[in-house]
Amino acid sequence: MPSTLRGNMDIFEAIEKRRSIRNYQDRDVEEEKIIKILEAARAAPSASNRQEWRFIVVRDKEVRKKLCKAAKGQKFVQEAPVVIACCAETDNHTMSCGQLCYPIDVAISIDHMTLAAVQLGLGTCWVGAFYEEQVKKVIDLGPQTNQGLEETRRLQKELNDEIKKAEEERDAEREKGILGNKVLINQLEGRISGYKNIKKELSDLGYINEEDAREAEAAKKAQFKSDSEAIKRKEAEIKDELKRIKSIRDARVREAEERAKLERDAAQTVEERAQVEINLINSIRTRKMEKKENL
Ligand SMILES: Cc1cc2nc3c(=O)[nH]c(=O)nc-3n(C[C@H](O)[C@H](O)[C@H](O)COP(=O)(O)O)c2cc1C
Repeated sequence: MPSTLRGNMDIFEAIEKRRSIRNYQDRDVEEEKIIKILEAARAAPSASNRQEWRFIVVRDKEVRKKLCKAAKGQKFVQEAPVVIACCAETDNHTMSCGQLCYPIDVAISIDHMTLAAVQLGLGTCWVGAFYEEQVKKVIDLGPQTNQGLEETRRLQKELNDEIKKAEEERDAEREKGILGNKVLINQLEGRISGYKNIKKELSDLGYINEEDAREAEAAKKAQFKSDSEAIKRKEAEIKDELKRIKSIRDARVREAEERAKLERDAAQTVEERAQVEINLINSIRTRKMEKKENL
């Protein structure tokens, strides 16, 4: 939707100029201005972009009177030509920080509205002092709000019905498609078997025309192709199996070789130790002999 938010006022100017206004001129506010104000609210940020805010524009004098009562008798509520009741569609979503989304989101959108009103030359005032249950009752009874709500519900229902109808039509189309394909397959199968019968009759009569011969050749080729593919697949399976067997065998050979090496190393160690002992005995023997000779 293209934005209708245009103006020449500096945002800082609007922020600075805004004041809570509780005295109003006795005249209506133009429809375009109200739309612009709502548009400013719609453009506000909201947690997870939920935009759960909802605004009920009250212009009806009687409803404003009731709202004034629900707002603890604050006179300016009924004197204002327009009261915008701000609420939320859901009130149970919290952010990870633990704060509820809706009071923050709605508050931001209200602030957008108050600033937009400055730009449009209108005065506003927040109203936080009111009895919620009473306001709810008044709003529900309000002719404008009920009308709006009912219209929204009606449109929503219409839309849902249309979607449902479109979905049902699409499903029926699909089923029809599947059914159509099945019929086609049956027809084809019938044709093929009929054709086969004719072919058999022709060949029984010893007659086969060129087209039949070409077809027979093509069928043979197709069969050959599918056989070759099956053979290729089998070959690949065998190749994989051989690879697997070879790798098991290689692992076993490696294991046997390692074990043999370990045994060889161990034997070598025993041999070396024996040699050391022999050398020792020999040297003792030599020393004994030398001693004997010296005596
Ligand atoms: C959440 C909120 C609730 C308020 N409720 C009321 C209210 O019930 N009645 C009223 O006269 N002003 C109300 N105000 C207006 C404040 O009194 C006003 O913003 C404040 O005194 C500062 O004045 P200013 O808005 O002119 O800067 C409310 C303002 C906020 C932000």
